Amino acid sequence: MTVDIRWVKAADADDLWEGDILDVEVEGEQVLLVHAFDNPVKAFQGMCPHQEILLADGKFDPDTNRLLCPGHSWEFDLADGSGVNPMGCQLYEFAVKVEGDEIVVGIPQDGVRHHNRFETAEGD
Ligand code: FES
Repeated sequence: MTVDIRWVKAADADDLWEGDILDVEVEGEQVLLVHAFDNPVKAFQGMCPHQEILLADGKFDPDTNRLLCPGHSWEFDLADGSGVNPMGCQLYEFAVKVEGDEIVVGIPQDGVRHHNRFETAEGD
């Protein structure tokens, strides 16, 4: 089944410098925009898959693309949204594109929240 996507302006392109991250809310979704060096803009779920903590408050290293969650120091590779520590978790990735001077995010119109959760083997 194909889900329609609605393209919605998330930010001005000038709001997200290369090497930076930005927290935005788009159609009720918390979204983390990422513009790593030499990479296209990416968009992931804005809340940690562990607990409801804003990933944009974490520490981002644009040289490695790694982001450390401020909650419990889970680490993510923002090149693809994968969990580095713990491994096995995956941030939900939204479609995103830069159109002129706007960053627009594709929000699937399926009526659900786009937010992956993850529990460790210890049940954390
Ligand atoms: S809330 Fe992010 S690691 Fe716990």
